[in-house]
Formats: sequence, C-alpha cells, structure tokens
Amino acid sequence: MVNRVLSVTSECFPLIKTGGLADVAGALPIALEEQGFDVRTLLPAFPAVLKTTKSRKTLCKLPDFFGGSAKLMSAKSADGLKLFLLNAPHLYGDEGNPYQDDAGKDRANNHIRFAALSYAAAKLATGALTNWQAEIVHAHDWQAGLTALYLSLESGKKPKTVFTIHNLAFQGLFPPTELAALKIPKACFSRNGIEYWDKISFLKAGIVYSDAVTTVSPSYADEICSDDGGMGFGGLLSHCGDKLSGILNGIDTNIWNPETDGALTRPYSRNKLAGKAKNKRVLQEHFGLKIDSDAPLFCVISRLTEQKGLDLLAAAVPHIIGNGAQLIVLGSGEAKLEKAFITAAGAHSDHVGCFIGYDENLAHQIQGGADVIFIPSRFEPCGLTQLCAMRYGTLPLVARVGGLADTVIDANEMALQLGLGTGLQFSPVTEHALKSAIDRTLRLWNDKKTWRKLQKNAMNLDVSWRGPAASYAALYRRIAAK
Ligand code: ADP
Ligand code: GLC
Repeated sequence: MVNRVLSVTSECFPLIKTGGLADVAGALPIALEEQGFDVRTLLPAFPAVLKTTKSRKTLCKLPDFFGGSAKLMSAKSADGLKLFLLNAPHLYGDEGNPYQDDAGKDRANNHIRFAALSYAAAKLATGALTNWQAEIVHAHDWQAGLTALYLSLESGKKPKTVFTIHNLAFQGLFPPTELAALKIPKACFSRNGIEYWDKISFLKAGIVYSDAVTTVSPSYADEICSDDGGMGFGGLLSHCGDKLSGILNGIDTNIWNPETDGALTRPYSRNKLAGKAKNKRVLQEHFGLKIDSDAPLFCVISRLTEQKGLDLLAAAVPHIIGNGAQLIVLGSGEAKLEKAFITAAGAHSDHVGCFIGYDENLAHQIQGGADVIFIPSRFEPCGLTQLCAMRYGTLPLVARVGGLADTVIDANEMALQLGLGTGLQFSPVTEHALKSAIDRTLRLWNDKKTWRKLQKNAMNLDVSWRGPAASYAALYRRIAAK
C-alpha cells in the first residue's frame, strides 16, 4: 500500500501565496491525510514562511548548496501541514513576491533558486537527508519541474513521480549555458529531454521525466494537447497518452464556508440566505456605492492579467452600469488593467468600486456580498474563485474554457426546465459574447424565484477536496503498482 507522499511546491497557503497553486498545495495534503496518506510538503523557507511556521527543527545542514550554505528543517503550519523547509538565505532570503523583485521583474537567479528546490526534493525523497523516504513525489508547476529529472540521476530505490501543471503559460525557460550550474548532465539537453527550442525548460523536464502528468481539469487536459492551447507543448503533451490526465481542483470548505466565515458581517447558509443581503449592503457601503438591494452587484477577484480576459470586462463597464448594475474589482497586475478599473471607479463612483492590491479578508467579504462573479478568462486551467463563489451563492459568469467549463453548469433554457444551472457560461471569449451573457444574467436576476433556485443549486455542489483527493489517491496507487 502506497502511503508516504512528498509534495514539492514553491508556494503554499497560508504561508505564502501568489495564486491558486498555493491554495491547492495547502489543501490537497490535508485531504490526502484524511484518506490515510502521510504527506509532507517541501517548500523554500521564504521570510514569510519563517514568520508563520512553528515547531521548526533543523534536520540536516547542507554546507555547499548552490552557492551558499543551507539547512533542511521540519516544521508545522498552523493548520497542521507537515512541512520540510529548505532554508537557504542566499536563495530565498529576500522579502516579498517569491518570483519577482519589487519592480515586478523575475529574479535573475530564479533558475538556481528553483533547481535547488527540486534538487533537495530528490535527495529528500530517496531518504538521503533524513530517514523519511517517499513512495510518491508530487511536484507542482515549473518551479518543481526538475524534481523527476534529478531523481532519475539518483541510484537505489526511487519513488514514483507525479507532475501537475497548474498553468502551461509558465514554462521555466533558461539558457543552456546554465546546465552546469544546475547540476544537469549535458546528455539531458536533447529533444527527448529538457531541450525546448534551444532553451532548458523546467516544465518540459516535469512532463518528460515524471511517471504521470496531471493538470487541474479534464477540459484543460484536452486543450493543452492542441496547437492553440498547447502553447508550444501541444505535440509533446498529445503524445503522453494516458500518462496525462485532468483532475479538478477543490477548495478548502472549512476556510470557504459562509456559515462560519469570520470575515462576513453576517454568516448565512443555503436555507437562510438573508445574511447575504446584509453583507451586500456592507460591501456597497465599504466601496461607497449606492445602497441598493435591487441592483445586481457583480464582482471580480483576480490577478489582472491577459489570461483572465479582464480587458473585455473593462470594455463592458458602460454596458454594466447602463443597465443599473454595480461592479466591484479586487485585484492587481498589469498597469493598463489596474488603470482601466481605477478610472471606471473614479468616473462612476456610485456604481463601480475598485481595490488594487491583494486582500484575503476582502476576497471573502466580496464573495459573501456580491451576486455574480466575472471570470472571462481566455484560458483557465481550473480556477478556484468560481468554486468559492458557488459555495457562497454568488453565481459565476464564466468563459467556457478549461476548468470553468467543467465546474459551472450554464443556466440555459433546457437546464432551467430541469431545475439545473449554477451560473452562466459564454463563448467565444469576445466582448460581444460577454455582453450577451451579461444581458442573460440581468434577465435571470429579474426572475427572483429562478435566481434563488440557481443560488441553491450552486450552494448544494460538493466543491471540497474529497473527490479530487480520491482521484489523486487512485493515481498514486496506479503508478506505484507499475
Ligand atoms: P490563479 O491561480 O490563476 O490566479 P485561481 O482562481 O486558481 O487563479 O486562484 C486565485 C486565488 O487567489 C483564489 O484563492 C483567489 O481568491 C485569490 N485571489 C486572487 N486575487 C486576489 C486578490 N487581489 N486578493 C485576494 N485574493 C485574491
Ligand atoms: C493556476 C491556474 C488556475 C488554477 C490554479 C490552481 O494558477 O491559472 O486556473 O486554478 O493554478 O491549480
């Protein structure tokens, strides 16, 4: 029976987070532990991680480790995650974003920083650093992409490996002149290895060297095998056959629970939705919007990037407010998008509110008070905010792509006849189709009984990690048995 799993990640909620990867890396191990696995998570000891973990103990010293001295430590997070921390101040000592400097530029030594993470993972997993030996190593995204490659260089008994692609757009590309610094033999730099258009790709290493490759929804698993969605990796991925599969994400339903959420003015449940109206009022006050329970309150909680399609939403603002609806945007990212929403909020302060930045508490308050969340992504491997939204009775209006297509049931005519629907989908991802979806949402909003039914459908869904964790467990068992 396979039992010991090492999860390798560059971010992990609640210790350090830039996006959904952290949510997954923080919640999946706990769900797997509930299914009987012993899961340890290896991550870099960034300053934020050192501030928020407890019971830290040094397990071993690594005196000559990628240009400095490092330590491997064990620790626990407040919510009980069992951690291995790679404490290497020369690599991870800077405060702030784990990947970028304060000017928003990728850190110049990212290749070394994340190769070091994978290198430590490979040593740790084979029992070289402690007496704990993994049976499965589960590496996430390009930052942990070299793990299986380094493992292939180890001798003796080796664990099986799973590599999860959370976002194919981030490919970990670096010049081949860095091979020696990365401790990678030249022979690995080939078409069948890590070479990608004359560059080293950490992402490709994960795909090529792992026993199984997963991504975070079945639809995205299909999309990335095509020329369009494959972002240059379509050919390689389509040749993976059943080595590649899509397993939907879940969310931590203890953290995202409208009945117990401490961030909400008034907690509520699917049978007692009245509290949501109070939260909406508080939100309208907070953002200085007109207090109006009848005006549908749309929201965005997102990185403001090309991927998320929010330029289309910015263009649709006149359409939204022209129909008496309101919009709240919480996010940060591209300067052009930040400016567009700041300008809209300045020009229409009764109807548009905007907070540029990252605020976990506010994200909960918005989910608790808004009526609809916009996710007009051009591509979306899974997406988590639509899952949180449905749990909070906030209907997702989403582009029909990737995990959004797989998790939101469109309230079309036939679905409504059957009493189904948990949100709205639109396609193609154009301003025109988005506006039509907004119109359809407004028609539904005006039919209070149907709206309530859709909210209840959404709140009835099981969006927890139970099902997905069982799928990962089955995958671990399958590859371990090979
Ligand atoms: P991605 O990982 O592509 O950014 P996901 O939907 O998978 O998208 O996950 C995003 C996570 O980050 C969610 O937990 C969401 O609530 C959170 N989030 C995004 N932007 C913000 C923000 N500005 N403030 C607070 N939380 C945010
Ligand atoms: C990525 C994707 C997002 C996904 C998240 C967690 O950041 O963009 O769709 O939900 O990873 O898997």
